[in-house]
Amino acid sequence: MITFDHVGKTYPNGYQAVKEMTFEIETGELITLIGPSGCGKTTTMKMINRLSPHTEGTIKINGRDIMKENPVELRRNIGYVIQQAGLFPHYTIEQNIALIPDLKGWNDTRKKERVHEMLDMVGLDPAQFAARYPRELSGGQQQRVGVARALAADPEIILMDEPFGALDPITREQLQDELIRLQKTMKKTIVFVTHDMDEALKLGDRIAVIMNGTLLQLDTPEKLLKEPADGFVEKFIGINRIYQNPAFIPVTEIMRQQPAIAPPTLTPARALSLMRQRRTDTLIVCDDKARLSGIVSAYDLQTHMEGIRTIQEIRVAAEPFLLSTATAQDALMAITDAKFGIIPVVDPQHRVIGVVTRGSLLTTFADHWAGRRDNE
Ligand SMILES: Nc1ncnc2c1ncn2[C@@H]1O[C@H](COP(=O)(O)OP(=O)(O)O)[C@@H](O)[C@H]1O
Ligand SMILES: [Mg+2]
Repeated sequence: MITFDHVGKTYPNGYQAVKEMTFEIETGELITLIGPSGCGKTTTMKMINRLSPHTEGTIKINGRDIMKENPVELRRNIGYVIQQAGLFPHYTIEQNIALIPDLKGWNDTRKKERVHEMLDMVGLDPAQFAARYPRELSGGQQQRVGVARALAADPEIILMDEPFGALDPITREQLQDELIRLQKTMKKTIVFVTHDMDEALKLGDRIAVIMNGTLLQLDTPEKLLKEPADGFVEKFIGINRIYQNPAFIPVTEIMRQQPAIAPPTLTPARALSLMRQRRTDTLIVCDDKARLSGIVSAYDLQTHMEGIRTIQEIRVAAEPFLLSTATAQDALMAITDAKFGIIPVVDPQHRVIGVVTRGSLLTTFADHWAGRRDNE
């Protein structure tokens, strides 16, 4: 855990780049720092490994004041990735990655094994890349090596300062996805600086919004989008962003309420008339406690009209269904598997509170996309 307690940084020229920052980063958490250029992101990050020591307040790592640690030791246990990867041009990829293991006095076999393991992990074939020099790699490959190097000595904390900032959008997306994948198993404590809000939202367990050296808000992506702490945060996030991100739209906002619901004991004739009345070709079957128990389609109903006594007999399982806590993103993913193009939404007691249909999804996103075009 990293703790900032009223931390500030005044540079020797008298400029106060960071003011009164108080926050905690949990072990295993990925925090993104975002804010306009010059707001103090890099300074905040470099205070953690004492590359730019703070001048006010206290920073602790796992309860220990970093100013009482040996700075060299401290840095060996904190991985650091910067924009141009910062690889040494006259070292091979292998030598670059083995840098800190080397400083830690690992033997050659262990170093070599580790380098190969790290290259594999970041998606580079060791046989092909270990002996190359940085200039023989693309920008994206160099950044992968930068990440491999930061991870090599298995540090508890990793600091990443706009590591993907100079890459083309496709490579950047790829590396972001890789980082998410790696972090799922590594569970490192990561501080990631970016000036790209999409990147901050995508990667961060929580996001720290900084302006003029002040921490304005530190919250989960959902919280930040729903309850920006002030006008600046709101503007910075972009008002329309929520609609670009189905992951942040609650399914309850896009579902249709009061779908046509029927008890399993309904006769086929009455089921058909209910469908006509409600202008729908599906009925959601619920038990006497309003809990979801299946779906009946008009097609099945008409096909089996003569042979059944109640709709119970032609009811199919309502799979998939969504919980009320799901998002539009979940709905988009589930809709391809949805029988009859309809997904029931249920509350924690499994009672039906609405449905998402292929049609309602399309309308939602068509509206938002049209809205975005209008705003541009
Ligand atoms: N060594 C320094 N001496 C004086 N001012 C500095 C120094 N380094 C950075 N600054 C200033 O501190 C502010 C924050 O810088 P920085 O943390 O690099 O911002 P960011 O990473 O958010 O772009 C900027 O105004 C910058 O000019
Ligand atoms: Mg910076």
